[in-house]
Amino acid sequence: MTEPLRLGIAGLGTVGAGVVKIIRQKAALLTERTGRPITISAVAARNRDKDRGVSLSDYAWEDDAVALAKRDDVDVFVELIGGSDGPAKAATEAALTAGKDVVTANKAMLAHHGQALAQLAEDNGCVLRFEAAVAGGIPVIKALTEGLAGNDITQVMGVMNGTCNYILTRMENAGLSYDQAFDEADKLGYLEADPELDVGGIDAGHKLALLAAIAYGTQVAFDAVELEGIGKVSIADIRQAADMGYKIKLLGVCRMTGRGLEQRMAPCLVPATSPLGQLDGGTNMVMIEGDQVGQIVMRGAGAGEGPTASAVMGDVMDIARGTRLSTFGQPASSLKLVTAAQVATPAPYYLRMGLIDKPGALAKVATALGEAGISINRMRQYDQTNDAAPVLIVTHKTTRAALDIALVAMNATGVVAGDPVALRIESV
Ligand code: HSE
Repeated sequence: MTEPLRLGIAGLGTVGAGVVKIIRQKAALLTERTGRPITISAVAARNRDKDRGVSLSDYAWEDDAVALAKRDDVDVFVELIGGSDGPAKAATEAALTAGKDVVTANKAMLAHHGQALAQLAEDNGCVLRFEAAVAGGIPVIKALTEGLAGNDITQVMGVMNGTCNYILTRMENAGLSYDQAFDEADKLGYLEADPELDVGGIDAGHKLALLAAIAYGTQVAFDAVELEGIGKVSIADIRQAADMGYKIKLLGVCRMTGRGLEQRMAPCLVPATSPLGQLDGGTNMVMIEGDQVGQIVMRGAGAGEGPTASAVMGDVMDIARGTRLSTFGQPASSLKLVTAAQVATPAPYYLRMGLIDKPGALAKVATALGEAGISINRMRQYDQTNDAAPVLIVTHKTTRAALDIALVAMNATGVVAGDPVALRIESV
């Protein structure tokens, strides 16, 4: 029989336990498909005694992930510890330096250190794969790196944080406030240990930066992602956007423009009838556009034991089959430094404001927009509540810079109560 591929798995949380289960329960299938057995030599985690719903007695135990990564009986180091630095990074570096291939689900580590780690992998003749880091069970890294490799990618867009999508969906469908929906997500165990990673858009921003690197052959540039979380999205915006035919999503968009790379993860409006608009609950969706293939839409579970372990196994099985791909789809040394686009591609905007209901108020707002070169597409005013009448405006395409000028001018009119809300509308 061909030599087994021997794994060392560090991190035995939900995903790690899921990987162990697949390897134990599907041994024959994995061997059939790759031509060699896939075995586990050793595991490492913080707590040896925790019940993980799967027996670990066949495997050696290491308390230290770095020691696990260096073991002679480990061919592939599977990093499922998490965190951008600390033990995850130390053990990944140790494994690559020792000539071992690495499979990781760690988006934060790659978003911050992807270039250095990809280079280290290459210098040591190793592969470093990360399918599970982006959109859970959706094989989007494979799609971009392999299936779509012959395309110029014109755009990657998607909902890549299931927790945020769950919160926004519950606000919309159950009329919950942001805080109520957040508490519900918390009770269901959806939130990361640091919830700001989810609701601040950081987790999704990490994923977008990784996709952009593959799509455009650039060094990962998480710091260049324009980032905004969902904390300021109100139930009023969700209702009134719906009234205008839109849904609010935490949407990631990256595209290469003549002005540089645009990477944005922010709440924005999408048509309610579009596939993204109809994506409810904790699901992810990634849409890729290539010059040859047109548009590809992939939808599926972005988190959870089975889906994420499935993605880890896809990478492990590639290695078992002898597939040796570069981390970001091309040699690390050929990845270009990113020039970030300072000005985003123009788009329509949704504006919501409270207007003092008196003669000429609306005219002043329209003038502020007009003088900034912004044309109004649609407008709606609702009955006055408290001291102000809610007004919604959908603009024609404009730049954020022009909009900011208009917002300052609007605030100076004295007819706008509070700060207007401005959200970008993406056509999908
Ligand atoms: N917390 C993420 C989500 C999953 O809610 O989609 C892990 O990246």
